[in-house]
Amino acid sequence: IPVGTFDLVIFGGTGDLSQRKLLPALYHRYADGQIPEDSRIVGVSRTDMTDEAFRAFAFEACEAHTKDSIEKDCWAKFEKLLSFATMDATDPDADWSGLKERLGGDDRPAIFYLAVTPKIYVPICEAIGAAGLAGGDARVVLEKPIGTDLNSAKAINSGVGAVFAEDHIYRIDHYLGKETVQNLLVLRFGNTLFEPLWNRTAIDHIQITVSESVGVGDRAGYYDSAGAVRDMLQNHLLQLLCLIAMEPPNSIEADEIRTEKIKVLNALRPIESKYVGADTVRAQYEAGTVDGEQVKGYLEELEGDESDTETFVAIKAWVDNWRWARVPFYLRTGKRMRTRHSEIVVQFREAPHAMFGEDQAQSNRLIIRLQPDEGVQLYVQIKEPGPGGLRVQSLPLNLSYAESFQLRYPDAYERLLMDVVRGNLALFMRREEVEEAWEWVDGLLEGWAAANTPVHTYAAGLEDGPVEARMLLRQDGRDWWSNG
Ligand code: BG6
Repeated sequence: IPVGTFDLVIFGGTGDLSQRKLLPALYHRYADGQIPEDSRIVGVSRTDMTDEAFRAFAFEACEAHTKDSIEKDCWAKFEKLLSFATMDATDPDADWSGLKERLGGDDRPAIFYLAVTPKIYVPICEAIGAAGLAGGDARVVLEKPIGTDLNSAKAINSGVGAVFAEDHIYRIDHYLGKETVQNLLVLRFGNTLFEPLWNRTAIDHIQITVSESVGVGDRAGYYDSAGAVRDMLQNHLLQLLCLIAMEPPNSIEADEIRTEKIKVLNALRPIESKYVGADTVRAQYEAGTVDGEQVKGYLEELEGDESDTETFVAIKAWVDNWRWARVPFYLRTGKRMRTRHSEIVVQFREAPHAMFGEDQAQSNRLIIRLQPDEGVQLYVQIKEPGPGGLRVQSLPLNLSYAESFQLRYPDAYERLLMDVVRGNLALFMRREEVEEAWEWVDGLLEGWAAANTPVHTYAAGLEDGPVEARMLLRQDGRDWWSNG
């Protein structure tokens, strides 16, 4: 369904995010006929670049970062939407006329996408306001991480909020744009099967894993000041936890969903420093082999600098409410792990009576595979065929997205960018969500600092993180689910 005409301004238009995600996403939406011809997409940065040069730059970016090849005729039409304004938007004396003359007019919303460091979110918003562009239906899109702790997040939220109303601020967490993540809502609330069992009486524990095989590469500068906690846990993993743990919202209206997510974040038990040793693991990768290739350790990627930044974190978390009392949520994420896979495992309790013998007692497990090989598996117990004794096996009922839907998977940014144009805030975070998440994460980071929690190591590509992460579950008589 086509969206209405819009103007999109990308601050950081020549940056990494713009190249890898935003420009390819816009091209795909255009190629699918969703973006009207009279929309405008203006890249902005300090780089001196003509409109033509930006179009060539965008073409290269799309070619490099899309799986399908670019269709020449379609590109020729799409590139007419693109232009570029050279400007330092944080400079109070900057001349905004180049940008203004590239916009289409007042008959459409102007969307300002801040694909720049969060440190300059507030000055840029103030400058947009001072240039007279923040009025009417103007919207601003903020990338994560919003700040580096609760105080800096509050400062950003207040500064941006002084220019744009809350319902014109779109805080992106691209995990919420992933098809399989959105499917969590449908799986939980579109079926009668799960909800009656979705609580402490039937569920033993939940695991959330976001495992990456990539290292920090050329993002080491940013990453070293963030680490896995700020880069992944504070946002992506906590958002997944919210979707798994939240109460059914009254509707799929943005504020209904966001209110329920905030309640989960509110119920997250603060990690006290006396528990950080037992309930958390922080670690950093060393040199190793990934996909047969020798790769550097984290410190080598930093080129010799000392650092105790974690590239892996595992945590036992608790949601202190009626539904989840005494059900641990084990979260882990890391770079340079053995494989790239993200999944949520809902481990049900064993049947109350071991009718087929204690040694055969197994329990149901629901695996929601977010990426790659997106799908859902429900492990059920069945009888092993054969005339011998009665043997029980646990096997999956398997729903593979690729087999069920033979469609191109839109990237999360395609969905999210179009939602901004449509004015649909459901998949974006409200101010309190970001701040509640930081409050919990600040507690963890302070706990680590106070307890001087050691940074363990793991060999890149060898295992799914350090041995200590395995011990985190073993001490509770459990194991991480691993299907290969
Ligand atoms: C980003 C993080 O938000 O998410 C990156 O900053 C990480 O460090 C990326 O690699 C992972 O996203 P995806 O979609 O590849 O799982």
